[in-house]
Amino acid sequence: MKKVLIAALLIFPLWIQAQKFEGLAPTPPMGWNSWNTFQTNISDKLVREIADDMVASGMKEAGYTYIVLDDGWMAKERNKNGDLVPDPQKFPNGLKTVIDYVHSKGLKFGLYNCAGTMTCASYPGSRGYEYQDARLYAALEVDYLKYDWCNTDGITAKEAYKTMSNALKIAGRPIVFSLCEWGTYNPWEWAKDIGHLWRISGDIYNCFDCVFDHGTWKSWGVTYIIDMRKNIRQYAGPDHWNDPDMMEVGHGMSAGEDRAHFSMWCMLAAPLIAGNDLREMNKETIATLTDKEAIAIDQDSLGIQGYLYQQKDSVDTWIKPLKNNEVAICFMNRSKIPVTFSYDFNQYPVVDSFSKTSINFMATAYNIRDVWNKKEIGDTKKPLAVTVQPHDVVLLRLSAAKPVINKKLKKQ
Ligand code: GLA
Repeated sequence: MKKVLIAALLIFPLWIQAQKFEGLAPTPPMGWNSWNTFQTNISDKLVREIADDMVASGMKEAGYTYIVLDDGWMAKERNKNGDLVPDPQKFPNGLKTVIDYVHSKGLKFGLYNCAGTMTCASYPGSRGYEYQDARLYAALEVDYLKYDWCNTDGITAKEAYKTMSNALKIAGRPIVFSLCEWGTYNPWEWAKDIGHLWRISGDIYNCFDCVFDHGTWKSWGVTYIIDMRKNIRQYAGPDHWNDPDMMEVGHGMSAGEDRAHFSMWCMLAAPLIAGNDLREMNKETIATLTDKEAIAIDQDSLGIQGYLYQQKDSVDTWIKPLKNNEVAICFMNRSKIPVTFSYDFNQYPVVDSFSKTSINFMATAYNIRDVWNKKEIGDTKKPLAVTVQPHDVVLLRLSAAKPVINKKLKKQ
């Protein structure tokens, strides 16, 4: 009996080094985050209004679930017990009441902190307080934690993220764990059992194809992020996603650029975390963010990240295999003029060894659906005439046409 007890005591610490909460993100998480538009100018009122508008705009119905407060939610000092406290000016009634409000709308709530001694905006970080902070999040009924990487001198990313993941697990409340170390230490190689999504780049910038230089660091326009990591799609899948950052849809780009950005995030099976002000959306922004067919491509249950098929005359062709042997094709025009071409499917079979997808359009005709224009546009038997507007996309969903049964052959 004594031996059994000793063995159990030896095994217990290994058991509690258990991996992340499984199954919290079978498809890429969808939600909203405060950083891109508000930075640290956040408040009780803002969260409630965003929650209201997430419902009223149809975003909740389209699948958006998480409302995540990024940096700046806490006071500059921990309290005498070492607990984080919400900024009393921004959250005069504390956070629990705000979180309860978000939950009452059928939505989920997320918070931000950082693996370092201080967050990127100089608020108290979690270093040395991981287990205490995780207990606080669980007590507050938080559902999602974004965990950043500033002020981390002397610590190892993998170990730091593992510690927080373990702390969340022990605190006992299932919390989606979003790693944000910007792809610095290749989290896709080691974070599958630690978290549910990991940033693959520095911060996004609300511009289609430019870079913003802050002096000591840069933030990146949409095409830069798309181009940044070409060979990591095999690391993504259900419950572990490559995260190209929160979206900039509805935050200053043209409607076509927003559509291209959104479509590409869907092709990349990216988390769809809106970063715009949901209280001030025009019709086009709402239409883009809530497009059910584009979202279905992102949320496809196979969770296969799309890949670049070819680059030709300023147009990138991306392919994403989908369930039921369907496939999404996205033509993205990088140039500032419309591009017209003829796309002969018979010349462009889909052969993807990663997802084991193989489509020879000569053998099987596929029906073509134009996702943004909401119409069927024929099949793959003959070349398709395509015009892609500047900084915009044409997004197609292909499904196999019913096989034509050759009666004569059948009789033989
Ligand atoms: C880093 C992250 C951003 C945001 C800020 C907050 O830059 O990458 O997404 O969380 O910190 O300070």
